[in-house]
This record gives sequence, C-alpha cells and structure tokens, in this order.
Amino acid sequence: MTDKILIIDFGSQVTQLIARRVRENGAYSEIRPFNNIKSDEISAFRPNGIILSGGPASVTKISTPRAPDEIFSMGIPILGICYGQQTMVEQLGGNVNSSDEKEFGRAELNISDNCDLFNGIFTLGDKKQVWMSHGDRVTKLPEGFKVVGSSNNAPFAAIADDNRKFYGLQFHPEVVHTPDGTQIIKNFTHKISGCSGSWNMSSLRDSKIEKIKSQVGSSSVICGLSGGVDSSVLAILLNEAIGSQLTCVFVDTGMMRAGEAEEVISLFRDHYKIKLVHNDASRIFIDKLAGIIDPEEKRKIIGNTFIDIFEAEAKKIGGVRFLAQGTLYPDVIESVSFLGGPSVTIKSHHNVGGLPERMNMELVEPLRDLFKDEVRLLGKDLNLHESFVKRHPFPGPGLAIRIPGEITKEKINILQRADKIYLEEIVKADLYDKIWQAFAVLLPVQTVGVMGDSRTYDCVCALRAVTSVDGMTADFFHFEMGFLGHVTNRIINEVRGINRVVYDTTSKPPGTIEWE
Ligand code: XMP
Repeated sequence: MTDKILIIDFGSQVTQLIARRVRENGAYSEIRPFNNIKSDEISAFRPNGIILSGGPASVTKISTPRAPDEIFSMGIPILGICYGQQTMVEQLGGNVNSSDEKEFGRAELNISDNCDLFNGIFTLGDKKQVWMSHGDRVTKLPEGFKVVGSSNNAPFAAIADDNRKFYGLQFHPEVVHTPDGTQIIKNFTHKISGCSGSWNMSSLRDSKIEKIKSQVGSSSVICGLSGGVDSSVLAILLNEAIGSQLTCVFVDTGMMRAGEAEEVISLFRDHYKIKLVHNDASRIFIDKLAGIIDPEEKRKIIGNTFIDIFEAEAKKIGGVRFLAQGTLYPDVIESVSFLGGPSVTIKSHHNVGGLPERMNMELVEPLRDLFKDEVRLLGKDLNLHESFVKRHPFPGPGLAIRIPGEITKEKINILQRADKIYLEEIVKADLYDKIWQAFAVLLPVQTVGVMGDSRTYDCVCALRAVTSVDGMTADFFHFEMGFLGHVTNRIINEVRGINRVVYDTTSKPPGTIEWE
C-alpha cells in the first residue's frame, strides 16, 4: 500500500474526523497516540505525510505532550493542526503564548500569502470562514516558516515552510464548519505528500477483514444482532472474515417494530446462512418492566435483562473467547473523555458497556473508528441489502422508550401499528432517505374525541421525524401539512386506542431525539 498518512493524536475530540477526511480523500490513515509511537515504528509504517492533531493541553506548560522529535528530520511532510501546530512551532524553535483573547467558533481567515496547502482553494486577499477553538497562539515562527493566513485573534493562523513541507493551522480544517477544510487536507495528502487517492471502501473492508482474522485466530466469536445498521454490517463483515466461527444472538425484547424480528431472522439465518440464535424474551422484558415509569430505570432494566439473556446464550454455546460489538466512533467519544473522566450522562445508552465486564471476554470492535454514514458505505460495499443499509437508527431499548409511563403489551401493540402506518406513508412519499429517523410515540395522555356518534377517550400519538448528520444534533423534519393530515387520519381510523395525533417540532438540543 502506498497512500498512507500517520495521524499523531494529542487527544482532540475530533481526531477521528481528521482520519475521516483523509479516508474521504482516498488515502489510508492510522491514528497513534503521541505517547505511544516510536520512531522505528514510524519509519516502518513509511507514511507519505504526518498530521499532528489538536488537543486539550497547553504547550506553555511543562510536561505537556510533544511530537517525537525525530519526525522533523525524516523528510516527511507534516501538517500540525491547533495544538499540533503549536507543539511543532515550539519544538522547532518558535514561541507559543497563552492569550487572553481566545477564539472559539466561526472566524475569518485572511489569506496573506500563497502556499501549497492553499493551492487551487485560496488566493491572496481572500477572506474565508474557518472554525477555531483555542486559547494559546503562536507568537514567533521557527526559521523557514512564513505566515500565510491570519485571523483577528491568531496572527499566525496558517503558517508554511514549503521547502521542508511543514504546515501549521491554528483552525480546524477537519470540521464541517471550515467549508474548504476537506480540500485543504486533500492538498496536504495529495499535492504535498504525494498520495494518489486510490484507497477506497473496498480497501477498508479488506483491511478490516484481515484485522479481524488476525485478532481472532481460530477462536469462536459471538455477536449481538439487533437488525440495526451497525450490528447488521458487523455481522456481515464478521461472516466474511471468520464465517464458521461466528454465532449471532438475536435477543427479541418484544419491543421491536412490527415485523422486524421476522425480517432479521429471514435475512441473516436464511439468506446469509449465519448461525443465529433467536431468543424470544418478550415475556421476560414485559414482566420486568411492569409498573416502571422512570425512563432511566426502564433503560437499566432493559440493559441488565439483555445482558442476562445474552450471557446465558453465550454459556449455552460454550468456549466463546470473543464478543463482537458494533460500537461506532461517536459512542466512544461520548462515553470517554481524553482525561479519562466520564462525560455527563444524559441517557444511559443500553449498548455501551455492561456486557464485556460481566462476560470476561475479549472485544472485537471493527467499526470503532467509523462514523455512521461510513458504516452504511461499508455495508453497501459488503452487498448488505439496501433496506438494512439505509435503515433509520433504532435504539437498543426499542419501543420501551417511546411509551412514556408504564409499558404494557397492549400499548406496544397499539404503538407498533401506528408506527407502521407512519413509516409506510413516509416510504410511499419517497421521504425515508431524506429523514435521519422517524417514529411514533404513544403518550400516557388520553383525550376526548368523537367518532361516528360516540364519545372516545383514547391515547395521543406523537409523531417525530428529524434530520441529522450524526444524531448528536438534530432538527425536526418539515413535512407538508397535507402529509401529516393524511397520516393522522390513517392512524386514527385504523388503530383502535388512538384518537389524536400531534407532531413534535423540537430540535436537539434542547430536546433529544427519543422521548425518554
Ligand atoms: P437521543 O435520544 O439521545 O438519541 O437524542 C440519539 C440517537 O441515539 C439513539 N439512541 C440509542 N441507541 N441505544 C442505542 O443503540 C440506546 O440506548 C439509545 N438511546 C437513544 C436514538 O434513537 C438516536 O438515533
């Protein structure tokens, strides 16, 4: 493989976004922590270029992270981003100071000189939007560097030494709020570092398969399959890598969408011929949730019950050494901070944590460095059926967190029917792929209605549909009123138990996507 970029990580929240941009530009990248990479490993990896990430530390303090000094004499192009720029400047003889004038968010970059990094993107005198997030700033350049861009609070916002091919950016080219960022990174990977752009999703698939094989050897692996995009892609990937050593366990909580359990079984067991254990645990879940109203308590009960059942199934299979999980990068970054402290828990997501500790198994997490849309692309590359690849996200606790208040079998049934109509109409109107997630919620509120000549006193159903890129922020989807009216009519006419339908127009934040 020729196109390789090494990313040295200083703990930025968005280091994986750098890797993602590099992937989008058709080059392979590996992320290594600043304190765990030796120069002989760098030489052996033979990167075309090195990117130094941002990070939460300050180079003005002693004992803060530094890049391995050797990289500056290897003749390899280097791009330092934010903290990466500052440590490069400091290590090469320049200066960095803490500033009272911090810069967070949108800033304007004034292009003051040409350099290869900006080739074909910016010209002298341009003013361009970039995204900043810094307190410290460069105040003196090392020999050989020139300023190529500045902002209000960062006189050295972009610096370049075209001879040595060293570049530094105070702003973050990897985030979407720097509109030309991907192109800047492409200039670094292609024009400056000589990558050809030949690396693609199939290369990623092949390297993931190789890694799984070498991690697992001839041992057995189990994988929890829910039918969601992540676990489906994971199962197919594992099947390609180590087919006969794999058993998937599908724990049916009874709180899936209508018809979903059957679909999962038919695709994975009948079509892919994957060894699949189907545990219908709906009675157990519903019994355990009886009388529970608090959303966090519901989530914990569901999470723990799931683990109990999964563990029992694993014991039955016996001799399993590895547990495969479809953990994605956003799951990782939301649950662990750079300094090791937990971030604030808004909701205890049921598929992160719990299982591995209890089961004493080694983890296989091949999707851990990917974002949801990349997982979809990988699924497509693996020929996973479109209806699974494009499926809206569905939470582990399922419909339980879409029934505020007490959960009963009857309520689940009412919700499944309303939800099915809503999604049918969304698909019919060709809106499914334009929406990140759409679902119905059954409220514990009854209202008075009139049907025929009779009084009704039934539940309210709320409809939710959001647009989002990663589920971290979201906006409500702007349906035509006529569409909502039509869905409302169908639900009220066809689902006994609902006599009023409302539409949720809350964004995230301040709301969350799910109601509980
Ligand atoms: P919220 O409601 O936190 O949801 O805005 C963000 C995204 O995560 C999904 N979600 C979950 N997914 N286990 C999951 O696998 C969970 O416990 C869980 N809770 C929420 C939610 O559907 C949305 O896509």
